[in-house]
Amino acid sequence: MKIVCKDGDILKERSSVMILGIFEDGLDEIAKKIDSKVGGKISKVIKSGEFEGKPNSTSIIHTFGQIPSERLLLVGLGKRADFDIEKLRQASGTAAALARDKGLTSAISALHLHDISGATPTDTGQAIAEASALALYRFGKYKTEEEAIKEESKELKSIAIPEKNARRRRELQKGAGFGKKVAAAVGQVRDLVNEPGGTLTPTALASRARTLSRKHGFKCTVLTPDRIKKLKMGALLGVAQGSHQPPRLIVLEHKGGAGKPLALVGKAITFDSGGISLKPSERMDEMKTDMSGGAAVLGALCTAAMLKLPVNLVGIIPATENLPGGRAYKPGDVLRSMSGITIEVLNTDAEGRLILSDALAYAVGLKPAAIVDLATLTGACVIALGHVNSGLLGNDDKLVKKIEDAARLTSEKVWRLPLDDEYGEQLKSDIADVKNIGGRPAGTITAAMFLKKFVKDVPWAHLDIAGTAWSEKARPYCPKGATGVGVRLLTQLIRDWKKR
Ligand code: BES
Ligand code: MN
Ligand code: ZN
Repeated sequence: MKIVCKDGDILKERSSVMILGIFEDGLDEIAKKIDSKVGGKISKVIKSGEFEGKPNSTSIIHTFGQIPSERLLLVGLGKRADFDIEKLRQASGTAAALARDKGLTSAISALHLHDISGATPTDTGQAIAEASALALYRFGKYKTEEEAIKEESKELKSIAIPEKNARRRRELQKGAGFGKKVAAAVGQVRDLVNEPGGTLTPTALASRARTLSRKHGFKCTVLTPDRIKKLKMGALLGVAQGSHQPPRLIVLEHKGGAGKPLALVGKAITFDSGGISLKPSERMDEMKTDMSGGAAVLGALCTAAMLKLPVNLVGIIPATENLPGGRAYKPGDVLRSMSGITIEVLNTDAEGRLILSDALAYAVGLKPAAIVDLATLTGACVIALGHVNSGLLGNDDKLVKKIEDAARLTSEKVWRLPLDDEYGEQLKSDIADVKNIGGRPAGTITAAMFLKKFVKDVPWAHLDIAGTAWSEKARPYCPKGATGVGVRLLTQLIRDWKKR
């Protein structure tokens, strides 16, 4: 999809559809103006009760030549006092998806003309472009039937944003360019997460990382088992033992500035069967998404490179399958991790923290300014926070605050959970330094307490994205399936990294 901000008057622009936002508590200036041009059709639809302007409700009105746009696509913005950048994203996404599904191929948007206090035209341009592109995402590569292909062929090819003021136009355009790039990276990540485990093996993930690194211009080093053995990553190797697919440690670098790098670590279990502690078969298919953390880290390196963000980054993605088999690691086994810490494995399904322990130790060796890790780590996090907030835990209040700020700005929501020392009791092993499970109470916290052991005194934050990486239902700018969570948040974090 092309999205351009151009010189022009929304009322004079010719198009097949104009996207216009409507507040539920009365028409704003721009809506009033357009309503009067179309003979009060908008007011009539509202009066009929058919459309009230509730968030993300829609209605399509034909204009029959009263304005150069053939149709008005009305999208609800909710109450004026509640309107913000996130509501604008949602309205943009809802409208773009509906226009496409109606078979329309080009649109003009008036959504930048509704006031949002505190938002710059750059923010507005980014929100409209980013959310529209995200809403139009599809994963259709495995559909072959004619009906589906016909549906897939529907494409909203362009959205134009007409703006008369040259300065606003430049800013809108800048934001739109930014948003388009972020959405492209999120799309790449959704593709990886939606891809079945049968095809997206650790090797395939590494080769995708390499392709993306060449395309966007960052460095990618892929460590194969011999190198992983030399590094003594006994925890990653332990998990990988049961699989015929060899593990990979993917290391990405973006050199955008001076100073110590920010290390981003992402769990990439390309399929989590649970191993010998096998999961129940119901919904096991969803465990193809257990590489969402790693994919998000890869996505963040793409945006950092595309946007030339002036920060040094290193991305570390341990990738393996977790399968049962004749060589699989077993409950009761003791693994010696790269850090030297020995781990008693009491459940092979708590594998994420194991591969992360080695990746975090590797990160610490790079002397980073801070470490942020992302992982679909615990079912307990889904129970605690559902599909709305990612769990946030960390050993450094300043870093946690930065992540909370990025979360607020992007609406990739997070909720902090505590990390009191007392929780560490649950991880005491009889025969090794630590065990890999802490029992049912506070499962998300004990998983993070386990990770904390491996980051030493480096400022560190952990995002548990088990509940947020996958969506059972379509949302205004995210169809069902992989959400690509983390990319927008990390991009914002990196953008604001040097600010205090
Ligand atoms: N990948 C799962 C966590 C998960 C669950 C992600 C649901 C997405 C949706 C993780 O490897 C896992 O199996 N965790 C176990 C840990 C337990 C054995 C301590 C869990 O949460 O049940
Ligand atoms: Mn597991
Ligand atoms: Zn897992």
